[in-house]
Amino acid sequence: MSITLLAIESSCDETAAAVCRDGSILSNIVASQSVHEKYGGVVPELASRAHIQHIVPVVDEALKKASCGPDKLDAIAVTKAPGLIGSLLIGSQFAKSLSLALDIPLIGVHHMQAHVLANLIDEPRPEFPFLCLTVSGGHTQIVLCESATKMQVIGETIDDAAGEAFDKSAKLLGLPYPGGPLIDKYAQGGNPKRFPFPEPQIPSLDFSFSGLKTSILYFIRDEESRDADFIKNNLADICASIQQRIISILLVKLRKAAIQTGVRDICIAGGVSANSGLRKALEEMGKKEGWNTYIPAFEYCTDNAAMIAIAGYHQFLAGKSDSLDMRVSARAEW
Ligand code: KG4
Ligand code: ZN
Repeated sequence: MSITLLAIESSCDETAAAVCRDGSILSNIVASQSVHEKYGGVVPELASRAHIQHIVPVVDEALKKASCGPDKLDAIAVTKAPGLIGSLLIGSQFAKSLSLALDIPLIGVHHMQAHVLANLIDEPRPEFPFLCLTVSGGHTQIVLCESATKMQVIGETIDDAAGEAFDKSAKLLGLPYPGGPLIDKYAQGGNPKRFPFPEPQIPSLDFSFSGLKTSILYFIRDEESRDADFIKNNLADICASIQQRIISILLVKLRKAAIQTGVRDICIAGGVSANSGLRKALEEMGKKEGWNTYIPAFEYCTDNAAMIAIAGYHQFLAGKSDSLDMRVSARAEW
């Protein structure tokens, strides 16, 4: 029997819908919200309002692109946690209404588990068990993935997430939100060894980025007091040095996790996995360590509904669905 599933993602500032049939993505539509740029971060109330405006056209486009009428759907998957409550409620209420109207199962999906499972969308796919470094705006975790429905977090950040480290550093350089992609862009022409920012000494598989943020703050303040154009004249080298340090903090712990678990299939996921320096560094480390490395296609790294579809599809196959009184939550257990 063929399974066609509509997925909806609205946990933060992206309204997204995707259709998948038997695990293959037929459409993947994302509407971003530029309204937050001038505030230097996502404004929850504005995000909820934008989701309300976007959700009908985005779902409509996803169904049309997949040449799939609502009557052909076998299930609806939707992000239920973690995320902004107002944003999650828009997507989940919409999905519940469709589930009720079409009389098909509702499947609530864990957003971070979906990021991990983005690695199962395209060939080549990792084999279980695999490790996934999940790096986004709100999370930085090393996940041991035993099956599509069984995962555990074996390391995580004790303060900022990697995406926050990128975005907050970018803000200190006067770059607009979200600054991660801009640091990536400027870093391309820079010297990553020019400014050696300190590496935190955390003994476990956990990460810390707050010390890096503070050292960048003092470094910029001191240099700017000597030369008012310091940032402007050294932007590429500063960005390359910040990016290089964030990447090394991440990969040192990923290598440690691979050694501790003996797992050789290693993936990355989440918005920060779109970073070109991280992608290259993971591949290089993989070659050196004898890992099989996997990186989702660019469009499946940042928030999207294709990953919700693939996670929902595996939950459907495992016989898992939710009732219409499913609750959304800002935080999520694994
Ligand atoms: O997974 P995601 O799209 O949303 C969350 O669930 O948080 O991740 C967004 C984060 C932001 O912090 C953004 O700056 C970062 O991913 N990001 C990048 C790049 N593209 C997105 N960071 C560094 N380099 C990039 N190319
Ligand atoms: Zn995300």
